[in-house]
Amino acid sequence: MSTLAMCVFLGPWMLLKSIRLNSTPCLLLSDWWMQSAYLDSRMPVAMYTSPGVVLPKMHFQDRQGQMRFAAKLIAGVLDFKSMIDSETLPVEYLGGKPLCMDQYYQVLTSCRIPGPKRDVVMNYAIGKTPPSHITVVHNFQFFVLDVYNSDGSPLTVDQIYVQLEKIWNSSLQTNKEPVGILTSNHRNTWGKAYNNLIKDKTNKESVRAIQKSIFTVCLDAPMPRVSDEMYHNKVAAQMLHGGGSRWNSGNRWFDKTLQFIVGEDGSCGLTYEHAPAEGPPIVFLVDHVVDYMKRTEMVRTPMIPLPMPQKLRFNIPPEIKKDIEKAKQNMNIMAHELDVRVLNFTHYGRKFPKSHKMSPDAFIQMALQLAYYRMYQTCCPTYESASLRMFRLGRTEAVRSTTTESLQFTKAMDDPSKHNSEKAALLEKAIKVHREHTHMAIHGQGIERHMLGLKMMAIEDLTSLPEIFMDTSFAVAAHFNLYTSQVGSKTDCVMCFGPMVPDGYGICYNPMDDHINFAVTAFNSCEETNAMKLSQFLEDSLLDMKTLLEQVSKTQ
Ligand SMILES: *[C@@H]1O[C@H](CO)[C@@H](O)[C@H](O)[C@H]1NC(C)=O
Ligand SMILES: *[C@@H]1O[C@H](CO)[C@@H](O)[C@H](O)[C@H]1NC(C)=O
Repeated sequence: MSTLAMCVFLGPWMLLKSIRLNSTPCLLLSDWWMQSAYLDSRMPVAMYTSPGVVLPKMHFQDRQGQMRFAAKLIAGVLDFKSMIDSETLPVEYLGGKPLCMDQYYQVLTSCRIPGPKRDVVMNYAIGKTPPSHITVVHNFQFFVLDVYNSDGSPLTVDQIYVQLEKIWNSSLQTNKEPVGILTSNHRNTWGKAYNNLIKDKTNKESVRAIQKSIFTVCLDAPMPRVSDEMYHNKVAAQMLHGGGSRWNSGNRWFDKTLQFIVGEDGSCGLTYEHAPAEGPPIVFLVDHVVDYMKRTEMVRTPMIPLPMPQKLRFNIPPEIKKDIEKAKQNMNIMAHELDVRVLNFTHYGRKFPKSHKMSPDAFIQMALQLAYYRMYQTCCPTYESASLRMFRLGRTEAVRSTTTESLQFTKAMDDPSKHNSEKAALLEKAIKVHREHTHMAIHGQGIERHMLGLKMMAIEDLTSLPEIFMDTSFAVAAHFNLYTSQVGSKTDCVMCFGPMVPDGYGICYNPMDDHINFAVTAFNSCEETNAMKLSQFLEDSLLDMKTLLEQVSKTQ
């Protein structure tokens, strides 16, 4: 039996480590996935792979409010970290089965590092003396903030506040080189600049301090004011890319796994580098932090004077200055390119499909299918991510939401010759099929990662690539015009990410009990796509599907 066939037989893939005894050891599928989906990709991480999370607008309007909020948030993350450090994070379950918790251990104290052909992710938490500092960036200037006292206890909210104030007071000028913007560039370009940058000893130490920090907090300058209607769109853009070089794009280190963003104008959220983890662990952390912040008040504690947070110095030679200018230009083009729409669908939430014994997720996926069909009179390859965390180190599988059944439903929905009862039956059937596919995917029976495994094995064995991978239909099927994910949370927030293909949409949603938060993105340069238009079709589709089910149940 060939090694390839043997590996195919011995699924699930997660358990494949070192099966091929007499050749190079077989990598874990999760490693292959991390490399091919993230670390090998040469596209900028900002916007192309790093998601943003938009939190509800906070009620502060000034720097005191901003710093008080940031101080509480930092304390909340440290509270979460204490569960990581003591390995007391409760295990999560899905359908009664325990899930792999590894991703939670990868998001703090880690950073992506650019390489000439492939990047790596370093986790600095492993080791005898794990770092005890975070980095804070304000007006494009980075600071090291030690967040533990000498006895090992975390700083109190009050202490953190004072430290943040010191940072603020010593970074009042904005006319500094926004060195962080380099991290938003194409990976090869950034990789080259990186090697130049760290030739200088001071720069190297500063970069290391950022990379090794537990996480980063970006104290953002106010963004241009917009109408209430546009507010969440603007904040989503701020979380995804910072709004451009004039605004906050230089106030980031995009390689950093976790960056919390707190604006002076009450905007807040985060962005994270996707390679080490999926969305759900991130929003679980957000839920914990939000809970913590509700519980915690600022109490005046007796102050032991703390040292001034250290400002990180950078020496910028002319060559790096040029790189920064290029990165700024590139960022401005990217920021201009992305259209982000946050839709708060307020007519109902996940309670409604549940009351009709339908899976809210499958219901929303069918609404997306209907919206797309109404806009384009055709369907398209649709990707919905599904968790593989039932397996050790499992990442994601994809559910293809476009099925024969979904197409039958979307076609019937606007067909006047069809009765409502027939339409409802087709919807029910499409939802059932979607549920089945989801069940298969999370149990390791999906096809996408299986195909990736076959492809990677052929590449590593240096055998010729099986013909299917060269087939045009294979490429067409993998051109996901709709790239979607449900990321649910207790907090009224929404995650957002860019489209997967130039003529596609990125759609993330968080179904709450009585409303649904959506974020829809598209590229402005593509004439065929329009995030606002699709959002409108989506809203109408959700409303029409509700009307349909209500009419049918009335007549029964
Ligand atoms: C920061 O500056 C403000 C205004 O000048 C001052 O009131 C405050 O005490 C300073 N904070 C610290 C910690 O130095
Ligand atoms: C969405 O709308 C609901 C209902 O009006 C409201 O309670 C909620 O705060 C809104 N959420 C966001 C993120 O705007």
